[in-house]
Amino acid sequence: MKTYLVTGGAGFIGSNFIYYMFRRYGGDIRLINVDALTYAGNLANLKDIEDRDNYTFIKADIRDKAAIEKIFEENDIDVVVHFAAESHVDRSITNPEVFVETNVLGTAVMLNAAKAAWEKADGSFKEGKRFLHVSTDEVYGSLSDPADYFYETTPYDPHSPYSASKASADLLVKAYVDTYHFPACITNCSNNYGPYQFPEKLIPLMINNALTGKKLPVYGDGKNVRDWLYVDDHCKGIDMVIEKGRLGEKYNIGGHNERENIQIVKTIIKTLQEILPEDDERRKNVSEDLITYVEDRKGHDRRYAIAPDKISSELGWLPDTKFEDGIRLTIKWYLEHMDWMENITSGDYQDYYKRMYKV
Ligand code: NAD
Ligand code: TYD
Repeated sequence: MKTYLVTGGAGFIGSNFIYYMFRRYGGDIRLINVDALTYAGNLANLKDIEDRDNYTFIKADIRDKAAIEKIFEENDIDVVVHFAAESHVDRSITNPEVFVETNVLGTAVMLNAAKAAWEKADGSFKEGKRFLHVSTDEVYGSLSDPADYFYETTPYDPHSPYSASKASADLLVKAYVDTYHFPACITNCSNNYGPYQFPEKLIPLMINNALTGKKLPVYGDGKNVRDWLYVDDHCKGIDMVIEKGRLGEKYNIGGHNERENIQIVKTIIKTLQEILPEDDERRKNVSEDLITYVEDRKGHDRRYAIAPDKISSELGWLPDTKFEDGIRLTIKWYLEHMDWMENITSGDYQDYYKRMYKV
């Protein structure tokens, strides 16, 4: 039975990944979730699986070398799935240091601890061990030619402190592969959307604001393009790379679904108008009149677009969820989980750990 150590499992993609893995493997895996529970970590995301015998949560910071080494000493970890990171570009513009600390130094701690636990006396690594570093397409910078895409061979050209810190972490992973033949893979995925995304990111922020009649702040001219992927399709790609990816390789993940931000905002408004029942009070709030163009993000990347040819041809990965279906599912999920959103916007979710773990 494989033991997975998932970092950042209380965040958006991490919690979706944990659900994905239990749906797929049930009782055939052991999974340890290590998360510091920063503002972005919400243990309530995981309440449907927290009582499983094959699931353990450990509150620890990936920058804490002693705490991470202890986890490797006490558990025979087979696979590390490294999600934990500071993930919001706007926050990285106002406070870059923590991005370097968590995303770069924290990744170094994870790599070192895994290397120490997995390396044999002759410098080779124990069979079956694997470190999957979860990264982003933002490391490649911004595309200007409309016919251009990000390939695994595209040179790194990060612009924001967030993407620079992720690029640094990717290069550190590559250095471990090149220097020690450390058994790692990197995935670079496009923008994700789906349940449990913190409402500072475009899609949940717009859904929440529209429902509560707040303005919908669109940066710049609204024509920046992101390549959106339903979160379960990202999780499927990560699992496939763990299972079948070639060691030392990187794989881009994306479903060819480019949209201008303004299109996304208008789709959310239209879908809410379709889904909300006639007598729902919130329906009267939802209108394009809420759209407000605001000052552009500093250094705002114009367009991201992934070429997923390598993961598709080598591993057979293809996305299952079309954007039209995924955005409906996502909006419905937020409508059915308004308590989740209220918990976050009120800050109450931060007490969940204390209540749950009685500390
Ligand atoms: P998120 O911000 O929702 O979650 C991050 C999680 O990491 C939180 O649970 C947080 O508590 C935890 N964390 C932060 N600092 C930590 C630390 N020092 N020690 C331990 N835990 C810590 O992020 P997300 O959107 O789920 O992204 C997860 C990963 O996927 C990140 O590495 C991100 O770069 C990458 N990624 C995200 C997207 C996207 O669209 N969201 C796309 C591609 C790649
Ligand atoms: P975001 O969800 O922060 O993801 P990223 O910056 O990592 O791609 O933003 C997605 C796009 O939406 C990006 O071009 C910035 C834009 N945006 C807005 O126009 N308004 C907003 O309030 C937010 C949060 C983002």
